[in-house]
Amino acid sequence: MDDIEFKDILEADENLKEKIRQWRNKEDIRKFMINQEIISEDEHKKWLEKLKEDDRIKFWIVYFKELPIGIVNLQNIDYKNLTSEWGFYIGEESYRGIGLSKKILYKLLQIFFDEMKFNTLYTKVLSCNEIAINLYRKFKFREKGETIEENKPIKLMIFTQEDWSRWKEVLKNECLTSNK
Ligand SMILES: CC(C)(COP(=O)(O)OP(=O)(O)OC[C@H]1O[C@@H](n2cnc3c(N)ncnc32)[C@H](O)[C@@H]1OP(=O)(O)O)[C@@H](O)C(=O)NCCC(=O)NCCS
Repeated sequence: MDDIEFKDILEADENLKEKIRQWRNKEDIRKFMINQEIISEDEHKKWLEKLKEDDRIKFWIVYFKELPIGIVNLQNIDYKNLTSEWGFYIGEESYRGIGLSKKILYKLLQIFFDEMKFNTLYTKVLSCNEIAINLYRKFKFREKGETIEENKPIKLMIFTQEDWSRWKEVLKNECLTSNK
């Protein structure tokens, strides 16, 4: 897992910040987001400014072997109840389909449960997003029902500190299958 690194987007240079906007606007990413609007340069700048002040969001760029390939974020971080929503994508298409998402998710779980000592991680995934749902099921996320947001059916999936203690070692082995 050492070849995967997370770095705060606020430390990135302007070109890289812009690359994140371009990834986010790509059809193959956007179609799996609840908000599928195109993000303008201006909106992206304002969002980055707000991020500096907002401790309820952590937004990391994911590096694989020192190359930026995607993002992972925590949002709606609740420091009282120790819960957070999360999301991610691999922006560089050529790095999809080779198992890297498992390494990324495992690293996030390590940070969230072992370092931050939080209790519950949840995600809202479009019900049509078969790849992500398979991944989360493989990682023992539990489905907590289906609802509609912005006219789209979504599943709520959660993973707790107890799940982490129980599955940590099994999941670690799952992550060793990437081959690039
Ligand atoms: C979701 C995403 C990060 C997964 O990364 P990936 O590189 O495509 O997936 P991986 O190669 O790491 O595979 C991880 C698991 O996903 C599932 N999966 C991968 N490709 C799949 C496919 N074509 N069909 C069904 N399930 C698939 C499998 O469970 C796989 O585990 P396995 O290979 O051990 O069986 C990536 O596809 C992506 O960025 N998608 C667009 C944005 C997105 O959907 N983000 C999530 C929003 S909730």
